Amino acid sequence: MERETVIVLDFGGQYNQLIARRVRECNVYCEVHPYNTSLEKIKQLQPKGIIFTGGPNSVYAEGAAVCEKEIFELGIPILGLCYGSQFMAYMLGGKVAPAPVSEYGKTEVKVDTTSALFENVSETTICWMSHTDYIEKAPEAFRVTAHTPACPVAGMECPEKGLYAVQFHPEVMHTVEGMTMLRNFVMNICKCNGDWKMDSFVETAIHAIKEKVGNGKVLCALSGGVDSSVAAVLLAKAVGKQLTCVFVDHGLLRKNEGDEVEAVFGPEGLYELNFIRVNAQERFYAKLAGVTEPEQKRKIIGEEFIRVFEEEAKKIGAVDFLVQGTIYPDVIESGLGKSATIKSHHNVGGLPDYVDFKEIIEPLRMLFKDEVRKAGLELGIPEHLVYRQPFPGPGLGIRIIGEVTGEKVRIVQDADYIYREEIAKAGLDKGLGQYFAALTNMRSVGVMGDERTYDYAVALRAVCTSDFMTADCAEIPWEVLSKAASRIVNEVKGVNRVLYDCTSKPPGTIEFE
Ligand code: XMP
Repeated sequence: MERETVIVLDFGGQYNQLIARRVRECNVYCEVHPYNTSLEKIKQLQPKGIIFTGGPNSVYAEGAAVCEKEIFELGIPILGLCYGSQFMAYMLGGKVAPAPVSEYGKTEVKVDTTSALFENVSETTICWMSHTDYIEKAPEAFRVTAHTPACPVAGMECPEKGLYAVQFHPEVMHTVEGMTMLRNFVMNICKCNGDWKMDSFVETAIHAIKEKVGNGKVLCALSGGVDSSVAAVLLAKAVGKQLTCVFVDHGLLRKNEGDEVEAVFGPEGLYELNFIRVNAQERFYAKLAGVTEPEQKRKIIGEEFIRVFEEEAKKIGAVDFLVQGTIYPDVIESGLGKSATIKSHHNVGGLPDYVDFKEIIEPLRMLFKDEVRKAGLELGIPEHLVYRQPFPGPGLGIRIIGEVTGEKVRIVQDADYIYREEIAKAGLDKGLGQYFAALTNMRSVGVMGDERTYDYAVALRAVCTSDFMTADCAEIPWEVLSKAASRIVNEVKGVNRVLYDCTSKPPGTIEFE
């Protein structure tokens, strides 16, 4: 089946994947390619439209990002954004110059609503600007379709050739009617039908993986988190038993989590694959004995994870491919220019360089978290795995203040289980970014059944956040908190006090260590 595709040519802007994501929101398949992709390759992709992204440089700068001029003659509609618009103007005979006033942030733009790009857009609309150069004069064949007091050509077009450009960023939320503009481009100008869905992503990814892997052996480090689970299932659907998933249970998982992962991916589970569960709890506890410094704990857990994984990989022998569940935000965090093979794994803090594999497969590299979840549902992964809240690679190791012991792990697992149960019963689980119990290092005096106790205090935390960079402390209803607190003290041996953490981030972090 022929698939409608729009491609984004990446000129080095910050929002390139976001543009692709917005196009996918119009139900049109979209992928990002480097600005210097050859015309040959572009023709092979048969795109219905091309979008040029922004970029950090001036078109006049030495080494400025440019693509072949013939791209404008392919008869494929092109939309230039920010640098992309300046590049289009510059290549086609317009004039680009340093703007006397650089515009940055939300800006009122007057648009010509007779332009196909601005159909159903208000005549004055708020757009996100971020530029130091601007188009001083549009090329001959173009007409100006938008302007601001400081920017004479905030939009231009040559509909006969299917060429459109805007100085601002329609892809970011701050451009209030940006989605309408992108939809106009994709649906009306490129004439896409918009019949692509996430299941088409799944189909395409499976097809591409099959071609790439052939008869090769594939290895996947499975944590049970959303990203590695979705990556593993994609691979399993594509290559079945050629895939081996290694699941290292470091003894720092939430209550029952190891068994839940095994139930889904193990021999009795839902998928055809080879599954190895390594019960390495004692090994991790031994390494963590006596260690109290948070960073040192993180390092030990990350390092030990790698050692265990490496030992298993050696037993399997030479593998051709290693799967990573890297998603787009991880790519940004790691710096775009970094080579994929040495990229540190978000969950485990780094994979061994010397495991014997030829290539890395990162099937989710272009997706955002919510898109990964959609793909997970399409793949039939159980909802409780798909919607699981984030859980740090070092696990409960960083939710136990001070030294980690098997006994403390048991306490925090039991308390956390009760807390999660009460939150879910109250129907609060979907509205919270993250919520969990942690074990403080504080013991205090209490009284239970007329007896003096000297036990630990458990801290409960719940935050509202969308980006996890900042977070507000969630206002959990008092009945829910007091019910959870009384159950924890009554049911979890070793705990006689429960505290609620009221700190936002910043100044606190979400995790305790
Ligand atoms: P903090 O504690 O820094 O956490 O506010 C922000 C988010 O990141 C998660 N987190 C981790 N995730 N490996 C991970 O995969 C880690 O080492 C790690 N440390 C923190 C944390 O759970 C929260 O969602």
